[in-house]
Amino acid sequence: MGKALDGVRILDFTHVQSGPTCTQLLAWFGADVIKVERAGAGDITREQLRDIPDVDSLYFTMLNHNKRSVTIDTKNPEGKQVLEALIQKCDVLVENFAPGALDRMGFTWERIQELNPRMIVASVKGFGPGPYEDCKVYENVAQCAGGAASTTGFDDGPPVVTGAQIGDSGTGLHLALGIVTALYQRTQTGRGQRVLAAMQDGVLNLCRVKLRDQQRLERTGVMKEYPQYPNGKFGEAVPRAGNASGGGQPGWILKCKGWETDPNAYIYFITQAPVWAKICNVIGKEEWATDPDYATPAARLPRLKDIFAEIERWTMTKTKFEAMQILNKYDIPCGPILSMKEIAEEPSLRQTGTIVEVDHPTRGKYLTVGNPIKLSDSPTEVKRSPLLGEHTDEVMAELGYSPEQISALRTAGAI
Ligand SMILES: CC(C)(COP(=O)(O)OP(=O)(O)OC[C@H]1O[C@@H](n2cnc3c(N)ncnc32)[C@H](O)[C@@H]1OP(=O)(O)O)[C@@H](O)C(=O)NCCC(=O)NCCS
Repeated sequence: MGKALDGVRILDFTHVQSGPTCTQLLAWFGADVIKVERAGAGDITREQLRDIPDVDSLYFTMLNHNKRSVTIDTKNPEGKQVLEALIQKCDVLVENFAPGALDRMGFTWERIQELNPRMIVASVKGFGPGPYEDCKVYENVAQCAGGAASTTGFDDGPPVVTGAQIGDSGTGLHLALGIVTALYQRTQTGRGQRVLAAMQDGVLNLCRVKLRDQQRLERTGVMKEYPQYPNGKFGEAVPRAGNASGGGQPGWILKCKGWETDPNAYIYFITQAPVWAKICNVIGKEEWATDPDYATPAARLPRLKDIFAEIERWTMTKTKFEAMQILNKYDIPCGPILSMKEIAEEPSLRQTGTIVEVDHPTRGKYLTVGNPIKLSDSPTEVKRSPLLGEHTDEVMAELGYSPEQISALRTAGAI
């Protein structure tokens, strides 16, 4: 069976997490992704957070599946020529170097256009144009600058970053969408274009509801679904809302049986309005279904803390899975707090290819997250990440270099 992006060639000049997330997705959709790495060293993540000495780290292997690796010294004049040949042969160049690095290497947008006017040049940067555009940025800087940290955590504590890599992987996803969109436009125009996904913008896009709340706060001075209501104070900016749902249906994280010893014995419980009567029945508070103090969403808002405390008295008598089973029978929206151990062992995620076991020549078997986006006509087969420079000769031959030329370039340190 063919793949959605068959025939698309990507010059993958990415490193660390944000860029590699993007090009890995494109590879899973069928693009030929050629990862260009620094000769002798490679992507810095190959050696970061290693769990086995001298073996590519899980950090690297889990972000670089289905790619080919070539090593080129792009600051060496002959190495530059190899990169030029690749630019002429590829459809998209993806990079996430520090601002200006590609220009300093001599590959400005204008130069790339001269070499290949159809080329799409896609970049992740920390910030878009403005006061911070020259700054280097990592995940948590983006979470802080994009509004996630100021709105995450509890009201009486400091800002908190989230474990989900919304700055890196989130921006990689945004960039991938920009690239396929530009490829589609190119079918009409015949021209390449630049695609920029700034990490601050990507995080802010995912924090859209908090900018919504900022404006609601400015207009009304209060947000009734936030835990600060009715007893706490609201300031000028959107406060941290603990585990409140962020939407129109109030929710909270509640203890389940075993919470005293198991840090993940909790369930997320949503008091969705249409199933309120069923919730009252399940927790044994039938009278709340008709009591005017509890019967409507508006009446419940000032009492949410007490309501969740009462529901928790019920959830604490069940394990999170028992509670999930009972609540789902009544269509009450809820979700167990799953640990990474539980997720890794979950059979249904293995069956769908969302968790995949991969074999690697030096590491052996390891688990990875497969393609979360499933296309019915373009199934994903997750293949191991390449060793450093594993495909240098193969790609050089495809570019038309003879074995003698390849060996001369190797001697010169260009590849
Ligand atoms: C992530 C980041 C902070 C890392 O910074 P860094 O480790 O100092 O790496 P840089 O991107 O500055 O690149 C280092 C140098 O390697 C050089 N280099 C990269 N590949 C090379 C190659 N194959 N051959 C020769 N030189 C190479 C670059 O040209 C650059 O040189 P310069 O500084 O002389 O111009 C930075 O790349 C960045 O801010 N990226 C954009 C935002 C981003 O993606 N952040 C999230 C990362 S998950």
